Amino acid sequence: MKKTHHIAIIPGDGIGKEVVSEGVKCLNALSAIFEPMQFEFQSFSWGSDYFLQHGMMMPENGLEILKGFDAIYLGAVGDPRIPDDVTLHGLLLPIKFGFDLYVGLRPVYLFPGVDCPLAHISGGEIDIVVIRENTEGEYSNAGGIVGIGESELAIQSGLFTRKGIERIITFAFNYARQKGRKKVTSATKSNAQRYGMVLWDKIFKEVASRYPEIRTESKLIDAACMDVVRNPKGYDVIVASNLFADILSDLTASVTGGMGLAPGASFNPKDKTYPGFFDPVHGSAPDIAGKGVANPIAAILTAKLMLDYLGETEAGELLYRAVSQNLAEKKVRTIDLGGLSKTNEVGDDIVRILRSSK
Ligand code: NAD
Ligand code: IPM
Ligand code: MN
Repeated sequence: MKKTHHIAIIPGDGIGKEVVSEGVKCLNALSAIFEPMQFEFQSFSWGSDYFLQHGMMMPENGLEILKGFDAIYLGAVGDPRIPDDVTLHGLLLPIKFGFDLYVGLRPVYLFPGVDCPLAHISGGEIDIVVIRENTEGEYSNAGGIVGIGESELAIQSGLFTRKGIERIITFAFNYARQKGRKKVTSATKSNAQRYGMVLWDKIFKEVASRYPEIRTESKLIDAACMDVVRNPKGYDVIVASNLFADILSDLTASVTGGMGLAPGASFNPKDKTYPGFFDPVHGSAPDIAGKGVANPIAAILTAKLMLDYLGETEAGELLYRAVSQNLAEKKVRTIDLGGLSKTNEVGDDIVRILRSSK
């Protein structure tokens, strides 16, 4: 029996295009190994070049087109020729908001073979899952700019609802319980942000009380950032608002080998009416784009998260093990990890390991 997954591919901009093709390479290799599993890919050339031609990042019916797929796999968007708020509000955020993909899952792990920039920490010792609220908070796009010159005025409002806060914190605790994780940390700024963050803290306490076996901690975001660097081993699951978890996910990536290794998933765990959305934590990296030197592992691990979402956990596990082996061997790696290999050589090496390990 054939099992076909329909995947929309949006390579996007900059290194997005370079890394997504390596992820697709791995998925194709996996479908040859796990025979009934098949992928049907459809690629969309949406993003900044499309914007420069058409004045929008994707067609007006973009969400209509995407909604029939099982999952969306994106590289990155962002181009120095276009203001970032235009690109991101034109493509990335409408997908997460429009499809109500309220969970942002961003796991990082210090793989054996990867140097930690912090002293006295070795492979395997950092293992953190950042869980990001994806559909409201500081990203709610409520506000505006009025006035000119000296009178210019901007209002940017955060939107925090009981429903939005409760469902993401509940997901974090359920995730911890299912994965046998021991601790959930919440990061807010309720000393300065008196409404949304105070509500968040209150709901965190309520939800936490339903999971007595899990240790909890509520920290201020500034102290949490400091402490993640000082004591990364002390963190397990971290749940935070849209903006704070965005910042924390770059920070946790940086203590576990950098942006080239950090995957991301956005999905609705209760309702798969709309496709899940899978993109690495990193952006389009204009500083290295076009050179073939970007690390594709973040995108490849993102494909692993997509396999889990699609129910293909065995294939996901094999892909994870192949990435671990590539990193442990320290032979074929990109420049960010101290190697000389090109993006496609890392993808090829992971495919080689996949083929030899099943
Ligand atoms: P970035 O993540 O693109 O790059 C930050 C730094 O990390 C750069 O020095 C870059 O070279 C390095 N880096 C990132 N990914 C790497 C990889 N795979 N291998 C090796 N090095 C890597 O962040 P930025 O520079 O702030 O953003 C660039 C553009 O991307 C902006 O337009 C931003 O808005 C956009 N962005 C998009 C997404 C997305 O589409 N999901 C995410 C973040 C940023
Ligand atoms: C990310 C990115 C985006 C976000 C930006 C580019 C809007 O930083 O996916 O982490 O903050 O959601
Ligand atoms: Mn980010």
